[in-house]
Amino acid sequence: MKVLICPDAARASDRVAGMIVERLARAPRTVLGLATGGTMEAVYERLIAAHRAGRVSFAGAQSFNLDEYVGLPPDHPLSYRHYMQAHLFDRVDFAASATHLPLGDAGDPGAEAARYEAAIVAAGDIGLQLLGLGANGHIGFNEPTSSLSSLTRVKTLTRQTREANARFFPDPAQVPRFAITMGIGTILRADEVVLLAMGAGKAEAAARMIEGPLSAACPASALQFHRQATIVLDEAAAARLSLRDYYEDVHPEGGPAPM
Ligand code: GLP
Repeated sequence: MKVLICPDAARASDRVAGMIVERLARAPRTVLGLATGGTMEAVYERLIAAHRAGRVSFAGAQSFNLDEYVGLPPDHPLSYRHYMQAHLFDRVDFAASATHLPLGDAGDPGAEAARYEAAIVAAGDIGLQLLGLGANGHIGFNEPTSSLSSLTRVKTLTRQTREANARFFPDPAQVPRFAITMGIGTILRADEVVLLAMGAGKAEAAARMIEGPLSAACPASALQFHRQATIVLDEAAAARLSLRDYYEDVHPEGGPAPM
């Protein structure tokens, strides 16, 4: 695991956006694994700016998002499909048919999950997987006690996750109870994984992910098994790391921003 501690949230977002720009410059046909949530908004803003400046193109790339709420159709303003269109897809040059999310309103969500997993495999698996971190240690919507070798499936959200995401909904009671999410096994098949976590609310989960035992109680700890996982944190999210001096010694200030 490479642990990069950036001085602040802006530089952490720069660092992650820069890694995606660099990957697409090297491999324009990369299959990107994308994430939603508040954390990713700053990353996508930077990718849009880089695209407008002619520094990155998504025209040859494909994308698969991690997850989608069960019950929300793609055009629902709180669906993850809607989020992705608004925050990235409509503002860069992805081909319309190249972006994929599970269908939240599929008649049979279990079958839709299996279809989505098969589509990822058919695309040759994810090249670069972008991840956020839940305060309870989830990645995608793989809640604590998720199988560490799980594939895309329907998961029941924890109360903590529904409360954390209620801020995006006009009425907290509208937060869906179920989601379709890539599994931890799906995520671990990616060539490269980049996880971004920022703010004090993520500090405990970040410490458990990086330095805690490998355990389904903290799904993100499964990344300890990945051969090429980079964890990008701001100072606040790094506050509970006990080997922090070591990480800062190896990569001072999170290393140079490649953008
Ligand atoms: C959500 C998403 C995750 C995201 C995480 C953190 O529930 N399913 O993919 O990484 O929780 O979200 P945020 O960035 O808003 O803190």
